[in-house]
Amino acid sequence: MAVVLLFGMSAVHAQSQAASNAAGIPIDNTTVRATCGGCHKPDDLGRMSRISYQRNTPEGWQDTIKRMMALNGLKMDPAAGREVVRYLSNNLGLAPEEARPVAYEVERRLIDEKDIAPELQGVCNACHSTGRVLSQRRTREEWELLMTMHRGWYPLVDRQVFRRMGPAPKERSADGRPPDTRHPHEKAVDYLAKAYPLNTAEWDRWSAARRPARIGGEWTVSAYEPGKGPAFGRLVLTPVAESDDEFTSDVMFTYARTGEQVRRTGRVTVYTGFQWRGRSSAATGGPGADVFREVMFVDRDLRRIEGRWFTGGYDESGMDVTLIRAGGDLTLLGTDRASLKRGATGVTVKLFAVNLPDGVQAREIDFGSGVTVTQVSSSGGVVTATVSVAADAAVGPRDVAVRGSVRPAAAVVYDRIDSLRITPEWNLARTGGVSFPKRLAQFEAVAYANGPDRRPGTDDDMRIDVVDAQWSLTEYTATLNDDDVKFVGRINESTGLFTPNAEGPNPQRSGERNNIGDVWVVATVSEGGQVVRGRAHLLVSPPVYMRFDPTVTP
Ligand code: HEC
Ligand code: HEC
Repeated sequence: MAVVLLFGMSAVHAQSQAASNAAGIPIDNTTVRATCGGCHKPDDLGRMSRISYQRNTPEGWQDTIKRMMALNGLKMDPAAGREVVRYLSNNLGLAPEEARPVAYEVERRLIDEKDIAPELQGVCNACHSTGRVLSQRRTREEWELLMTMHRGWYPLVDRQVFRRMGPAPKERSADGRPPDTRHPHEKAVDYLAKAYPLNTAEWDRWSAARRPARIGGEWTVSAYEPGKGPAFGRLVLTPVAESDDEFTSDVMFTYARTGEQVRRTGRVTVYTGFQWRGRSSAATGGPGADVFREVMFVDRDLRRIEGRWFTGGYDESGMDVTLIRAGGDLTLLGTDRASLKRGATGVTVKLFAVNLPDGVQAREIDFGSGVTVTQVSSSGGVVTATVSVAADAAVGPRDVAVRGSVRPAAAVVYDRIDSLRITPEWNLARTGGVSFPKRLAQFEAVAYANGPDRRPGTDDDMRIDVVDAQWSLTEYTATLNDDDVKFVGRINESTGLFTPNAEGPNPQRSGERNNIGDVWVVATVSEGGQVVRGRAHLLVSPPVYMRFDPTVTP
């Protein structure tokens, strides 16, 4: 089937593309030519059939190559594979403006994709995310051939979503246009060919300006890990000899709330001049010993790098990380807590900084009006400040400053907690532990004050801080006599981490049903005699038995 597809089609398409499309991107890399050229013949301008007519993220290229190996019989050693992914990502890649909006795809975030084009909705997100689709750019013919690939490998797709079932519409639309009789996959291709073409101004500009990301040196680390809170530290990147896009990394950071210190070492490749793909593991063993994959975006000015480090059976655990080029100046990275209650005295706030001189004085630290620093000690880049908040201090965010270094809105003066919002608002866990990994789900409780309109849940609510809460599960009544809460798993009372039960039929459950279901996750906070609750929806699903999406970062 595949060979018929390729030779039936690409012979035709090599011709028509050469004739009608000056757009293809020539390929002059000997490894790509040698490993792919047997089936994807170059034309006299060096454009290889299929390959030269699309652009992709490193993950996308890696995925295609994996399919070539798994299904089309390509043989290649890992070193050649890495070189092919690197060459194609660098020369047939995405510009930063194209890659950023779909960063969630490669950062492996669990998100509810919003604003999906109607042409793709329900058609191209039936099996995988639309992020996967929008991480590519192709000529019209390549978008069409992609449809053919789907039909060749997954013949059921036509009946599932690609073709309209039932008769074509006959009515003219309200504005008098003839009825749109296109099938869903045709609408999708028309849309993609226009909105996601091979040639774009963004790519022309970026590929002309692209240069090695010279990011060797020292970086400050500001990170946030749901469940563990903020972390701050330093990262050193050392260029690998005779390479302009590979580095070894050595990072040290401290979780601000607990003081736990972590050191990790790893290796990074920067694709297309801005796409950081790394892998690190804990140098000390211990709880953080598992491998993190790192997906980050290097800013054009090479001063800021942002992204996600993640792990877990489904990449569900991890941290958001920002690296800023370290200079010699004192820089306040952040604090362990933001909330300052009116009238509170003797509150300790830890301030994390780099290039912190000895002997910082109380008068050199500012929290704005109504907050007085009464005592200060500092060591190893951490200032511990004891503060008092006036009973009549104005409610609202405060900048925090140490000497000249300011973190805007790093603290919040509040009067009372009016409501709790749980993040994420909904979450997905997956049973596992026998043959498949468990997918865990971490929740956090964020305290809010009502704001000027004195009503909860409106736009003017003031975010106070993530707060410690008591966690529990209650039934989400989806069916009569629902008993999911007894079977789906447990939430840790103090950390908000949900661990699902084992996969597979459960003899203890009526009908030997799986341990799946819907529950509410409830957070309770009591402060000053009042009790505030918030809840979020948790869906506990079976494991992913079959994957339609990339699972490994290059
Ligand atoms: C043994 C033959 C063979 C080799 C070698 C081969 N391919 Fe393919 N390739 C195919 C076939 C067959 C198809 C069409 C079916 C499909 O898309 O899987 C294809 C399709 C493609 C497509 C279009 C897929 C899409 O997403 O629409 C790309 C891109 C591609 N190959 C890249 C490569 C690269 C890069 C290499 C070298 C690392 C390579 N191929 C090596 C046989 C091969
Ligand atoms: C029936 C399920 C299904 C539907 C519906 C579906 N896809 Fe896919 N798609 C897949 C699978 C499975 C793969 C993975 C193929 C592989 O890499 O082995 C894939 C891969 C892809 C890729 C990556 C291919 C590559 O090698 O570059 C793109 C892009 C894509 N699909 C686009 C689309 C678009 C556009 C639509 C809607 C018109 C769509 N898909 C609808 C199942 C589906």
